[in-house]
Amino acid sequence: MKKLIYSLPTPLFEVFVIELNGYGFEIIQRDLNETVFAIYVDDEELESLKNAVNQIFEDIGNGSLIIEEDIPEYNWEEKWKENFKPIELPPFVIIPEWEIYEGKLTPIKLKIGRAFGTGLHPTTQLMLEFISKYISTGDSVLDIGTGSGILAIASKKIGAGKVLGIDISKEAVDECKLNAWENEVDIKCLESDVDLIKDKYDIVLANLQKDIFEKKFHKISKLFIKYLIISGIYGEHEKSYILDKSKELGLKLIDEKNRIDENKQEERWYGFVFKHQ
Ligand SMILES: C[S@@+](CC[C@H](N)C(=O)[O-])C[C@H]1O[C@@H](n2cnc3c(N)ncnc32)[C@H](O)[C@@H]1O
Repeated sequence: MKKLIYSLPTPLFEVFVIELNGYGFEIIQRDLNETVFAIYVDDEELESLKNAVNQIFEDIGNGSLIIEEDIPEYNWEEKWKENFKPIELPPFVIIPEWEIYEGKLTPIKLKIGRAFGTGLHPTTQLMLEFISKYISTGDSVLDIGTGSGILAIASKKIGAGKVLGIDISKEAVDECKLNAWENEVDIKCLESDVDLIKDKYDIVLANLQKDIFEKKFHKISKLFIKYLIISGIYGEHEKSYILDKSKELGLKLIDEKNRIDENKQEERWYGFVFKHQ
């Protein structure tokens, strides 16, 4: 496995993300001028990914590779095991799957994985805070972009009824299923784009990125009955975009939280709860 670290002017980053569909990014550093990010890729896909990235850089007239690093496969598991300590986010505590928990919080067990949703990210934590506040017993829940399944599992554990987690990544869906089994909860994990979902749910959860909200917010806003809970919004600029768009879509903001990112400290991550107007 390789880790490719690239740099791009921030105004071009969103165009780049849309063009290079289907890969996950780790944002290493971002300010108004420059975004430094990493893409993880299997060795077999390295050349085609590099060609695709170079082509987009050529098209948008900017962007450069800073460094290419080898990531030995075992590192994932080792690093996770070394670094993973229980994360207390009352009423939940996120624990690695091998840990036995005897405290009073509701444990969510996670297996080692690569999908987004280890519980460490500020946006996942904002979503978990809202889940405990807004989900009532028996509510049906749709988790759009479920990743590891963490939010879907948390919802079920605090009493939700039917729970569906969807993701466009097959790897994420496999992890969602494994984690559901590990937590002994009856939820469904499905490989699907949000565009394909037809049923409405009491609660819709969507921890996505601004570029995805740009394309899908309209569709997402039609899928919930009681509350729409979202995060993945970074900084004042993205916040204004989402709040303006939400008004156009007939949504009423009823709750808002934010968290600082300890690695970046420049801007805040936001989470919002909406009702229909
Ligand atoms: C930031 S992660 C959130 C993971 C987890 N729900 C959490 O809160 O920690 C976003 C996920 O959305 C998925 N995703 C992106 N576009 C999507 C789409 N159009 N439909 C469904 N899932 C999507 C990605 O594959 C990724 O796993």
